[in-house]
Amino acid sequence: MTTNRENSTGKNSGRRLGVLISGRGSNLQSILDAIGDGRLAADVVVVISNRADAQGLERARRAGIETLVMDHRGRAREEYDAALAEALHARRVDLVCLAGFMRVLSPAFVAAFPQRILNIHPSLLPSFPGVDAQGQAWRHGVQITGATVHFVDESLDGGPIVRQEAVRVEPDDTAASLAARILEVEHRLYPAAIADVLAGGWRLEGRRFVR
Ligand code: GRF
Repeated sequence: MTTNRENSTGKNSGRRLGVLISGRGSNLQSILDAIGDGRLAADVVVVISNRADAQGLERARRAGIETLVMDHRGRAREEYDAALAEALHARRVDLVCLAGFMRVLSPAFVAAFPQRILNIHPSLLPSFPGVDAQGQAWRHGVQITGATVHFVDESLDGGPIVRQEAVRVEPDDTAASLAARILEVEHRLYPAAIADVLAGGWRLEGRRFVR
């Protein structure tokens, strides 16, 4: 029997996650919570932020997880991404989870972790890739949007889809209220999708994630 803290700080499953963030870190928290209550058999071994003021760093520290700040400013993308890949490889990370990491990754980084980088995006891809997906959807007037967890490839929010969940846009929604409901969905979707990928027994048929 292990405590929640032991679960979230490691030593249990052997499946090693590296989580990349730039800000709030609520999806990071949802991953830590899922590990803590046994929904996800994995350990977050490092949290890396490109911003020193990312709130998510504090969440990681509270959970006793190693944090790294790797500031991208003034660095060429290739050089930065190589340093990022090295930091993750050095910690023998099995899966890289982008959780609000506001940077496009270079093809060399993607190639360094084939089918081992996941991202969460707040829309039903391929609709509304890029920034402010919730606002894009709200302004467009769609009546259903949602959240998507997908593999990261060289395209912008375009890799193979692992899991999606729909969220209905209500008539009285603002972009902010819609974003808040999507975020609730994100928080259960991401840990579940990570568990799917770690469980194995899947393959990609073209773009299709098949189990
Ligand atoms: C989430 O909406 C996620 O879908 C998007 O960036 C946001 C990150 O939020 N990629 P948080 O930092 O996890 O709270």
